Amino acid sequence: MRNERKYKIISLLTILLAVFLLGNCVRELPRMNAAVEKQHDEYVIKGAKVYAQNCVQCHGPRGEGVIGMPLNRKEFKVDYQSPAGKQQYDMLVQTIKQGRAGNAQHYQWEKTADGKWISYTAMPAWGRDFGGALDDDYVKALALFIMDPTGEQWTLPGDTALAPFQDPNYDKDKNGQMPLPDAQGVDAATNAAAKALLNQTTKTLCLTCHTIGARGAKIGPDLTQVGSWGVDQKFLEDWIKYANTFQPKDEDKTPAMAHDVRMPVYWSANRATTSPQPNLTNPVISTGIYYMPRFKGKLTDEEIATISRYLMGLK
Ligand code: HEC
Ligand code: HEC
Repeated sequence: MRNERKYKIISLLTILLAVFLLGNCVRELPRMNAAVEKQHDEYVIKGAKVYAQNCVQCHGPRGEGVIGMPLNRKEFKVDYQSPAGKQQYDMLVQTIKQGRAGNAQHYQWEKTADGKWISYTAMPAWGRDFGGALDDDYVKALALFIMDPTGEQWTLPGDTALAPFQDPNYDKDKNGQMPLPDAQGVDAATNAAAKALLNQTTKTLCLTCHTIGARGAKIGPDLTQVGSWGVDQKFLEDWIKYANTFQPKDEDKTPAMAHDVRMPVYWSANRATTSPQPNLTNPVISTGIYYMPRFKGKLTDEEIATISRYLMGLK
């Protein structure tokens, strides 16, 4: 009898314990889901910040594509845990970590007939394992940011009302050249040589990021009046050679050149300053690391000097 009672009490306790544990589990499930969702949202926000610091200049504040192809594409906006999503996630992580070589046959970026997206120029490697500056957690944040199915993440990196993104304007004149302004105080031969260099947009690249006169793009500051900023020939040459490349490449470890503090930067924190006229009373100075490729070795010293002489005469 006593044993039976003991047995009953034990089984009752066991049942109570089981009910308690089960109840806990049932309550734990949504809590776990909520935690996963919260973590996911945190990754998206973190990704937006990393994107704003490292990727806007080439992929655009809204992922609309500039030098690199658009990233706000439909095929990326899938649940990252679905089979299709896992594949996209892996592709994004690999590409961001390793960078990509580019394809010289294409102008700017292009969608090929087989549905692939390619661009004429290289994308730097960002992963630590590949000499880049971002650890795995940042790369994950970037991938989850790009893949957020809501599409709302693209309002985070750049306030588009403040900073309307203008498409690059590559219109040519009747001679197939981009009409560029004449520099002042510069002889005709230098003017012609510099313009010819700048017109080779895939070689010098300047106009794929900068506006001069009515032509070019809005990734870097407008250079239409760079000659009146107070910079000198030597500064310009050094800047073009050793600009603040995100990660100095192996062959050239010269430290990044600091940009001129008077530079009106309107393309980073905001691109609200739409005029080339530097507003020196309230300059918007970029403080982050913003990528301008360095041209040492890609252009000869003479070519860099010619372009700089031309820029010095733009007032
Ligand atoms: C200097 C310009 C530049 C910067 C900065 C840059 N990219 Fe790229 N990105 C490119 C180019 C150019 C390509 C295409 C290269 C090619 O076609 O081989 C590309 C390709 C990609 C692709 C492949 C897309 C596809 O459809 O195949 C992804 C993803 C990507 N970039 C993400 C990023 C992220 C994230 C960052 C910031 C950490 C970043 N990029 C920074 C230029 C850049
Ligand atoms: C991939 C885009 C890109 C290309 C290509 C590029 N630039 Fe830049 N450039 C930038 C960015 C971004 C900045 C702003 C850098 C900063 O805020 O630190 C900049 C800044 C500058 C400045 C201002 C420097 C200062 O501190 O006052 C000059 C001058 C300049 N670029 C000239 C050139 C010339 C000349 C070329 C072609 C040989 C060129 N850039 C090619 C993106 C680019």
